[in-house]
Amino acid sequence: MGFQLPKDFFFGAAMSGPQTEGAYNKGGKIRNVWDLWSDERISDFHNRVGSYVGNNFYEKYEEDFKSFKDLQLDSVRTSMQWSRLLDENENINMEGVEFYNKVIQSAKNNNIELFMNLYHFDMPEYLYKKGGWENRETVEAFANYAKAAFTTFGKEIKYWFTFNEPIVEPDQRYRHGLWYPFLKDAKRGMNVQYNISLAHCLAVGEFYKAKEKGLLHEDAQIGLINCFAPPYTKENPSAEDLEALRMEDGINNRWWLDIAANGKLPEDVFATLKEVDMLPEMRAGDSEIFKLGKVDWLGFNYYHPSRIQAPKERFDENGHYKFSDTYVWKDAKMNVYRGWEIYPKGIYDFGMKMKNEYPHLKFFIAENGMGVENEGRFKNEDGEIQDDYRIEFVTEHLEWIAKSIEDGAQCLGYHYWGLIDNWSWSNGFKNRYGFIEVDLTNQYKRTYKKSAHWIKETIENNKSN
Ligand code: BG6
Repeated sequence: MGFQLPKDFFFGAAMSGPQTEGAYNKGGKIRNVWDLWSDERISDFHNRVGSYVGNNFYEKYEEDFKSFKDLQLDSVRTSMQWSRLLDENENINMEGVEFYNKVIQSAKNNNIELFMNLYHFDMPEYLYKKGGWENRETVEAFANYAKAAFTTFGKEIKYWFTFNEPIVEPDQRYRHGLWYPFLKDAKRGMNVQYNISLAHCLAVGEFYKAKEKGLLHEDAQIGLINCFAPPYTKENPSAEDLEALRMEDGINNRWWLDIAANGKLPEDVFATLKEVDMLPEMRAGDSEIFKLGKVDWLGFNYYHPSRIQAPKERFDENGHYKFSDTYVWKDAKMNVYRGWEIYPKGIYDFGMKMKNEYPHLKFFIAENGMGVENEGRFKNEDGEIQDDYRIEFVTEHLEWIAKSIEDGAQCLGYHYWGLIDNWSWSNGFKNRYGFIEVDLTNQYKRTYKKSAHWIKETIENNKSN
């Protein structure tokens, strides 16, 4: 297909604090839920690599920002760790402030715009033990944390985000039992999703309070990042398949999009939740909180579509109502290492959804990438990983992005996920995403893969064309 992106289209990369920093118990950082899980059940993690390591960004950030600059990136997103910025009494940890100030300075020195996200699945342990997102106290605590971050770093950072993928913890920890504490309880999952939504809204409220007080950069913006995977159903769907699609889209996508664009939750979704006794615990006055949740723009993380059909069973194993089942499309091309379908056109379909349903909300691709196992086998005689599959993956996605912009999508930029190989939750370092390899056996040494040279050239060409 080939692509030409607008000249002011930005290119960058995304990462997160808990997946890169390491130094899990240094610099006054308190434990988070990943440290707790790693301590309790290390064998759950691939090769027993728990939350402790990251890719040593804590010590390597200077070198990394130099590489980002060398690769021609204009921006990089990471997340601040709640457990590094605040202690258990919600007081500022000055060593944490010092570290993030050094990171911010290093980004500036290298002309990289730093996008700062506040939460990437990393609940401090003491809050998790009080019920985590099931407890409304945590919602308040998050607003305080956001306020502390805005107040401390407000003048230094332009682009803030409240959450990365707020749908993931309700799904992984509470509904599907995949992450600690391994629950399969759809109703608790709904409460968690609801409380995270409130936390987002209160944090946006804190952002505007800080702005009014003149504590923020004059161009500061607030956003929300989610994996709004466009759902698809079968070619000749039944009414039940279409109903499954409505609720899948409602809970995973429109829930967040309606908060972000309109400051409210989707009414049709709540009407259905009421009918099937799945409403979260709501309090009087919550609708006022939701009004705070509108944002300046969105980040869209895209790896794979979701393929949905009517559920085979009406209720799940815990007696909760089921809205849908997934299925594997017969023509699906798979990333076999991650078990995710590769469907670049999904990125275009999301762009068209935004154009048609949320025309005033701009967005950028906040994550997109390909994790591959055992990449050592692709090394050439000079020891460079020849990751042509990754180049092909990114090219195809950029082509569909370019087409979506041509057709009216307001997509402003692209961040690749995991520019430098990083720790991938319970998968540890199994699947590598980076354009830059990390050698775990040699002090986290960084080495460019073939794709690093390619992205550099691609960005240069796009800017000069
Ligand atoms: C996104 C997350 O969902 O996918 C990242 O924001 C994550 O944190 C990335 O690393 C890739 O998924 P995984 O599970 O292979 O690391």
